[in-house]
Amino acid sequence: MASKSLNQRIILTGDRPTGPLHLGHYVGSLANRVRLQNEQDATTGKHRYKPYILIADMQALTDNAETPEVISENLLNVAIDYLAAGIDPSLSTIFIQSEIPEISELTMYFLNLLTLNQIERNPTVKEEIRTKGFEGRIPAGFFIYPVSQAADILAFRADLVPVGADQIPMIEDTNMIARKFNQTYKCEVLKECEGLVPREHARLIGTDGKAKMSKSLGNAIYLKDEGDELWNKVRQMYTDPDHIKVEDPGKIEGNVVFTYLDAFAPTDKRSYVVAMQDHYKRGGLGDMKVKKFLFEILEAEFAEIHKRRREFAKDPAEVMKILKRGSQEARSVVQATLAEVKKAMGIKYFH
Ligand code: TRP
Repeated sequence: MASKSLNQRIILTGDRPTGPLHLGHYVGSLANRVRLQNEQDATTGKHRYKPYILIADMQALTDNAETPEVISENLLNVAIDYLAAGIDPSLSTIFIQSEIPEISELTMYFLNLLTLNQIERNPTVKEEIRTKGFEGRIPAGFFIYPVSQAADILAFRADLVPVGADQIPMIEDTNMIARKFNQTYKCEVLKECEGLVPREHARLIGTDGKAKMSKSLGNAIYLKDEGDELWNKVRQMYTDPDHIKVEDPGKIEGNVVFTYLDAFAPTDKRSYVVAMQDHYKRGGLGDMKVKKFLFEILEAEFAEIHKRRREFAKDPAEVMKILKRGSQEARSVVQATLAEVKKAMGIKYFH
């Protein structure tokens, strides 16, 4: 028997298609997804992981019911961002949630296994209810989305779920449902998973220096930004507000330009970055010079991604074909899980 470590482990992860992906997504998750996708066993050469990447359009609708066009407009762009970032459809299966009605079916069965109070305890849902102003009038579909997210994951019997730290409560709910299902129906159909959270410094602050990068805060640099668009964002980055004259000594901490240099400068530019930091702290180095340098680094580091992005953007029909194929492939996996789920529950009336 082949040892377990030689078997591919299943990865399931995804995003709500509510806007284009930005450098925060890249640093926090996309780069890691590409790395996991490409990881090979040293002796057999076999890929270690089989990744499934979900475009969670139905989950996105739970707080966009009145503006579904937001989702349909962004879906293709998110797919193009994935492909540009290096997600390879021959290794990773990219698919659309609403193309797999069996996920919704699983959700219905799972909803009976936990109480509203248990869902309400989820701190991420609590926080979202507050920030979205849903208090007192929570859309029912929104309230139960952790259960539908559990279905996304359990449907693939995923081993690993790479997510941001805010998604850990979802992983806990998922595993609670898996345990409850297996106990209740005395089976081993569902599998508990492990959340994979990026390291602390994998969180990128916004161009305003205030918080994490996000579309809604208007402080994002998108993967698609290049040339003048990129330069304008770098030019307006928050630096040290007390660094007024070039001769003034400047601060590095909280200075977005230096934070980004830390995140993106390649190894062979590191010692130059350190020299720049010293010069800036001493005084005599102007913000524009550092910004020009950062702009050049970003253009170089993302050149490959920008090039691929332009190519895929020219051929949306090809991208849609990839999504269609991925959705068909993912659907057959979920159908197999659903069949076992129904069998365990004794739901089969016609033979
Ligand atoms: N909730 C995730 C987000 O907002 C998106 C998502 C939906 C997801 N289903 C998932 C992530 C399953 C991981 C696994 O980013």
